[in-house]
Amino acid sequence: MKKNSDARWDDFDPESYFKHNYDELRYDDRFILRTVRDYFAKAVPPGRLRGVDVGTGSNLYPALALLPWCDQLTLVDHSARNIAWLEKEVKKYGPAWDVYWDELVRAAPWREVDSPRDRLAKISQIRQGNVFDLPRAQWEIGTMFFVACSLSTDHNEFKRAVHSFLNALRPGAPFAMAYMENSEGYEVNGHPYPAVPIGVDDVHLALTERDAYDIKIDRINSNHLRAGYTGMMVAVGRTGDPD
Ligand SMILES: C[S@@+](CC[C@H](N)C(=O)[O-])C[C@H]1O[C@@H](n2cnc3c(N)ncnc32)[C@H](O)[C@@H]1O
Repeated sequence: MKKNSDARWDDFDPESYFKHNYDELRYDDRFILRTVRDYFAKAVPPGRLRGVDVGTGSNLYPALALLPWCDQLTLVDHSARNIAWLEKEVKKYGPAWDVYWDELVRAAPWREVDSPRDRLAKISQIRQGNVFDLPRAQWEIGTMFFVACSLSTDHNEFKRAVHSFLNALRPGAPFAMAYMENSEGYEVNGHPYPAVPIGVDDVHLALTERDAYDIKIDRINSNHLRAGYTGMMVAVGRTGDPD
């Protein structure tokens, strides 16, 4: 078994991860982006919220999905290299993210954001941190993509990561999470990283154990570009009241 603390997160190569996964918008990420866009557009009333994306890595599309609502957006990651990449990238994000934004601006809340580059640079706070040590009830909207499933081989750590993320949001906060389905682990520039094989039932159980509600979970078949998993899952909903 490989625990989260066993993996070499500071060796995680953000540039290689970005090139492999996000340099081009694939249909599975497009599906996830549309699902999150449509849920947030329906579920979140206009307002100025404090948002968080946990385990951001070198993926900015969850942050872009949060942009219309947030006047503060905290991006948390464990890896020093990912933090350095984020510090640079959010100052003026690269053109690869425009195609992701083009999917979002099909819905009204994103169309009202004048300049997403400037806005992301203005509202982002980048923090090196640990999903297992997040403060409780801190944020009012949140995302966590491909983190709980992809930080260890330990099923308990998967659940603890989901619960810790949900606990970090205020009761009733809308959230979106993405997961690999049945992942056997992954490599980033030759370094192995652990994953836990989970499916829709595991995600549903982890969410309901913390009384999340309004839950919708969709799965997408793997496009076979990357071996070692059977698909992706996207879950949206609202956090329950822990008390
Ligand atoms: C598979 S990557 C996902 C990155 C990105 N969110 C995405 O959608 O592609 C897993 C991420 O989780 C981060 N991570 C691993 N352990 C963590 C922990 N204990 N707390 C916070 N982030 C962690 C890694 O640094 C990495 O950025």
